[in-house]
Amino acid sequence: MLTIFPGWFDGPLHTSLLGKASADGTLDIRVHDLRDWTTDRHRSVDDTPYGGGAGMVMRADVWIAACEAVWNDLPSERTAGALEPPDGARYVAGGDRPRTVLLTPRGRTLTQPLAAELAQEPRLTLLCGRYEGVDERVHDLVATDEVSIGDYVVFGGEVAAAAVIETVTRLVPGVVGNAASPTDESFTSGLLEYPQYTRPPQVRGVGVPEVLTSGDHGAVARWRAEQARELTRRRRPDLLPDEPLDPTSDDPPQRP
Ligand code: ADE
Repeated sequence: MLTIFPGWFDGPLHTSLLGKASADGTLDIRVHDLRDWTTDRHRSVDDTPYGGGAGMVMRADVWIAACEAVWNDLPSERTAGALEPPDGARYVAGGDRPRTVLLTPRGRTLTQPLAAELAQEPRLTLLCGRYEGVDERVHDLVATDEVSIGDYVVFGGEVAAAAVIETVTRLVPGVVGNAASPTDESFTSGLLEYPQYTRPPQVRGVGVPEVLTSGDHGAVARWRAEQARELTRRRRPDLLPDEPLDPTSDDPPQRP
């Protein structure tokens, strides 16, 4: 991963299941500071846009030098400021390169099927852009994919990269302890998840559906399937291929 805020990831990558998977070697997540590939004394990663206008644009030469070093497992000193690919580089900008995801609001929306596709890759390089803009040549020569976490704008790609990391890595065998849980849930089945309850049996006068304490496993499974279907029909009819929109529903219409 490449970012101008490497410290941003200190917490998320060392917490909970991600922290455990990194510690036990199931995952190898490396965070690189894009500024390590700058050449000027201010360590600038951006400049004013050609053609004028407000805001700054992230420089393609810095992104290219950084990615070529990271792809080829070279230290930053080897390529700082280089206009040509590093000697003996296997992966080069504009040529053969590992799957490289630029986080940007104009990208393909992150969904469970996209996460499953990315989880097949032996290695991913995530590029955290800043929202104001990234030189188009980074899109063309460096990224193999552009991914958005939704139709809204955050300050930069860091929060989006964290979403990609969590979504993808929990599909990697060995990261989630209970092997059944990543597939037995919302979006993998194509439906929202059924309601869950645990002790105590009464909370502020609200009880638990009787079927769940009946001990009848078949009835529990049928109830859960029905609840998942009904919740999806009411909240996310767009997830049900042949479901007409319900004009009488109180829930907000969701079909995109
Ligand atoms: N950067 C800013 N907004 C973003 C979004 N929605 N997805 C990915 N990267 C972003």
